[in-house]
Amino acid sequence: MIDHEVAVLDYGSQYSQLIVRRVRELGFASHLYPPDRLSELKNPGAVILSGGPRSTSDRDAPDVDFKLLMNLGVPVLGVCYGMQLLNIKHGGAVKPGVTREYGSAKLVVSEKSALFNGVSRESQVWMSHSDTCSNFSPETTVIATNEDAVPVALQWGERCFGIQFHPEVTHSHEGTVILKNFLTRTGATLAKFDIHEFKNQMLESIKVEVGGREVICGVSGGVDSTVLAVLLQRAGVKLRALFIDTGLMRLNEAAEVKTQFEQVGVPIETIDASARFLGALKGVTDPEQKRQIIGNLFIDVFWDAASNVELLAQGTLYPDVIESATSGSIASKIKTHHNRVDRILVLKEQGKVLEPLAELFKDEVRALGESLGIPHDALWRHPFPGPGLAVRIPGEITSERIAITQQADAIFIGELRRSGWYERVWQSYAALLPVKTVGVKGDERSYEQAVSLRAVVSEDAMTADWVELPYEVLRATSNKILNTVQGVNRVLYDISTKPPASIEWE
Ligand code: XMP
Repeated sequence: MIDHEVAVLDYGSQYSQLIVRRVRELGFASHLYPPDRLSELKNPGAVILSGGPRSTSDRDAPDVDFKLLMNLGVPVLGVCYGMQLLNIKHGGAVKPGVTREYGSAKLVVSEKSALFNGVSRESQVWMSHSDTCSNFSPETTVIATNEDAVPVALQWGERCFGIQFHPEVTHSHEGTVILKNFLTRTGATLAKFDIHEFKNQMLESIKVEVGGREVICGVSGGVDSTVLAVLLQRAGVKLRALFIDTGLMRLNEAAEVKTQFEQVGVPIETIDASARFLGALKGVTDPEQKRQIIGNLFIDVFWDAASNVELLAQGTLYPDVIESATSGSIASKIKTHHNRVDRILVLKEQGKVLEPLAELFKDEVRALGESLGIPHDALWRHPFPGPGLAVRIPGEITSERIAITQQADAIFIGELRRSGWYERVWQSYAALLPVKTVGVKGDERSYEQAVSLRAVVSEDAMTADWVELPYEVLRATSNKILNTVQGVNRVLYDISTKPPASIEWE
């Protein structure tokens, strides 16, 4: 840890890392720590206790060494579960709430407090809890309630606070102001967050963790794996970066990925497995079966090439792990991510998986990438799904259908770049539909395929909205596709939101 950083103790909330991110956005250094490592924190500037899925009344509920915490002599903020823990430690109690409170609620500020400087008397906050604090000790001041006069913010002395809501989520409208007040109005001495400094710390800790072992990683040309590979290379580790060409990539992508890595000075090994993938997908039309075939084959090809893995590096980001459980056993596991398949879990148990980006969100990875000198275009590529064009080609995958999709896609992306829309869009592509429609070409009847264009905006791909592209961009794309891509006589624009549609077709 670095001196005077904001230590966030992770009690397993889905939002723990989001607190760290908000603190960094406010310009201060911050990291997440398991609560039982409090004694190892040498010189924090402030401590935040996160929320968590457990109840303080559970027999083995995660705890805090309160004496140690108070002896640090720094400002302390408990969020949700963290507040309940602090209330108990200050002599109060926690009782089951009458109703479970999830979603938006009203914050009503009732006492003057450094925490609420500049905060409206009433504002919307986001709650996610079922227990409430009660039996307050005399040293406790209730500084805010909800609209039913239930205490939702407490203060003990000048520098210890508890809040029942989540200031880190955007649904708490003035949450950032509250966090900022905690960091800047309680007399804390805090280290500033600086991406270059952060990068240097990451390089140092990678060196220590790798300790001379050979590191192998898969690269796709996407933002995460590119930043990962460059980071590892800059850390001076012995690196094998494998790029598996599934044949399901965008037009000329395999060559572009090679060039991209040459530009940043990282040699990659390309494995052309396109014939194997095409063969395995022959005659398959069921979307799930396609995904299974591609996912399993990808791992087989990677494993064959990797042979004896000393250390496997993955570009897993925080949103990828957030639903697979956060720190250790405290968090609820919601789903298993593809970076957590069985073979990887075995390696993980053996201490052979390195995930240096797992604390970061996409925009932080991009900032890190910039600091590593990775070209802008590589950092702003649209996301591309693991199964590649297969999920954009409903029906059977053939080399002809892949070629049509690639050409149409390249035209669309080219028009978006030309018109300046590419970076205003989260993701865009052309899909090839499994229907043929009647048209006229010259004086002849045609019976050809239909292409559907999709462009969406999103923050995290969980929800998405279609983009109101200018007609001029759609017209230019459509004209070019209809005039140059053999076998297509119809172009559609997809105006479906997610939900209920998904971003990809399959
Ligand atoms: P959907 O279609 O579920 O996509 O709305 C959400 C985001 O995830 C990407 N995607 C995938 N990424 N492996 C990946 O690495 C996959 O199997 C996969 N399926 C979808 C999709 O491109 C979008 O950004």
